[in-house]
Amino acid sequence: MALVATRALLFGFLQRIFFPVQTCDQNDFMMISTDQPASTWIPGPILGIETSCDETAASALAADGSVLSNVIASQHDVHQRFGGVVPELASRAHVESIERVSATALQQAGLAWTDLAGIAVTQGPGLAGALLVGVNYAKALAYALNIPVVGVSHLEGHIASAWLQDPAFPLPCVVLVVSGGHTHLYYKDRSGHRRLLGATRDDAAGEAFDKGAQLLGLEFPGGPAIDRLARQGNPTTIAFPRSYLKHGSHDFSFSGLKTALLYRLQAMDEQSRVANVADLAAGYQEAIVSVLVEKSFAAVRSSGARALAVVGGVSANSRLRALLQKRATSENLELSLPPLSYCTDNAAMIAAAGKQALCAGLRASLDMDAQASLTG
Ligand code: KG4
Ligand code: ZN
Repeated sequence: MALVATRALLFGFLQRIFFPVQTCDQNDFMMISTDQPASTWIPGPILGIETSCDETAASALAADGSVLSNVIASQHDVHQRFGGVVPELASRAHVESIERVSATALQQAGLAWTDLAGIAVTQGPGLAGALLVGVNYAKALAYALNIPVVGVSHLEGHIASAWLQDPAFPLPCVVLVVSGGHTHLYYKDRSGHRRLLGATRDDAAGEAFDKGAQLLGLEFPGGPAIDRLARQGNPTTIAFPRSYLKHGSHDFSFSGLKTALLYRLQAMDEQSRVANVADLAAGYQEAIVSVLVEKSFAAVRSSGARALAVVGGVSANSRLRALLQKRATSENLELSLPPLSYCTDNAAMIAAAGKQALCAGLRASLDMDAQASLTG
């Protein structure tokens, strides 16, 4: 370990002499939960690590923020037969694959361990045991390589994904974060600070997809299953209620929709359930995505922004993407819809948020702990 640390120091010294120094874009500053003795960080490659739920992911970013690798080991096979994520199994699977996934991320990026200038890891929110694996692995690496580590909020990671493909995407903008844990609308101002405009009052949109899929008897994870099945159905054959709440509200509510699906299924016999399952999926999906689209564009209008970013696992939904793109074109607004590999959980977004934290002088100490219920 001492040898690795010495090599890291020597290499870092030589690198600073021979390679031009990149600068940090201070406009990208955002709040990240970490201990913070401020210090200057000379940009270099970053390894991002994400283990908050059921994906073990690692990604290397170059000093300029471009993505060099984005490796994801999904645990879907482990959890499939239980119909949801089993926390204990998730932690074990992370332990088994984190080293291989991280080494692969470096190898695909063409980097050696000693090339790294920083480590970013998801600190929370998420499953406590799963987060612990990533946080402890990241701290051990940072110690061995003698480089800084930062803890990143998973939410900040999703938000940062909007700028991975298009670093010039404009501010101010509205950001819709739609995942298994969030349905949140933010206004992000010119300096990158964000303000909450609205959030779900009950289920997140991803939960609505997952619970709806379970009621329909589809496999886990439910969102992609509904997305695929809905392509064979007609979204107008079986209509479901859309919850817009009171006029001008930027909040969401999806629990009534789930109940409407339950009642609809209970009123059908087995034969008609099977015969109509694609129309049920299409109608149910339409009720979720149309509310997401309407409320996002209403938030853009009322905020005066001219740009909308939609991030998180549900932003992979094909119907949502099609509706957003059509609407953005007709309203002449800029839209950031990250490529599918940056929508669902990944480590490139964690590395991107971590880069901003390191640039802002944030550092975690080696007693940083996972924070399962981290907010914001
Ligand atoms: O961002 P993510 O991978 O993890 C969380 O931070 O929660 O989002 C996972 C959620 C799940 O609820 C999953 O069903 C949903 O995103 N999801 C989708 C699609 N792909 C993933 N929902 C609808 N359509 C999809 N294609
Ligand atoms: Zn996520």
